[in-house]
Amino acid sequence: MTSHPKTLAAALVTTAALACAGTFAGFAVAQPMSYVLPPETAVFKPGPGVEAAENNCAACHSADYILTQPPKMGRPFWDAEVHKMISVYGAPIDEKDAKAIVDYLAATY
Ligand code: HEC
Repeated sequence: MTSHPKTLAAALVTTAALACAGTFAGFAVAQPMSYVLPPETAVFKPGPGVEAAENNCAACHSADYILTQPPKMGRPFWDAEVHKMISVYGAPIDEKDAKAIVDYLAATY
């Protein structure tokens, strides 16, 4: 039994070393990781009224839906498109915003 205190001391040292290693391992795992994000493609083009479109047209789908329409379709097309979102798909957009969005889309796309 004379070796018992020594064994205990060794065990304590081992435990401390493991705890230390554990701490370091935990620290390594918790390192923040950095990701390289792909470039944002689905953004609204800048222009007057862009905020109204961002606020009302990105809730259900991305701006890609607007970008994939033929260019220079004009006001009647966008007016129909915006009102289709409201009446067919139930987009909660008031008339004031709808008008601003139509103006923006007709002028920008
Ligand atoms: C309530 C949800 C909702 C909101 C808000 C919304 N859309 Fe849509 N949109 C849809 C759905 C559903 C479709 C059809 C998706 C499909 O066919 O895959 C669609 C499709 C489209 C298309 C593709 C052509 C078409 O007619 O199907 C365009 C362009 C479009 N949306 C523009 C807009 C614009 C501009 C706004 C803002 C005024 C808007 N959307 C807001 C739901 C919404």
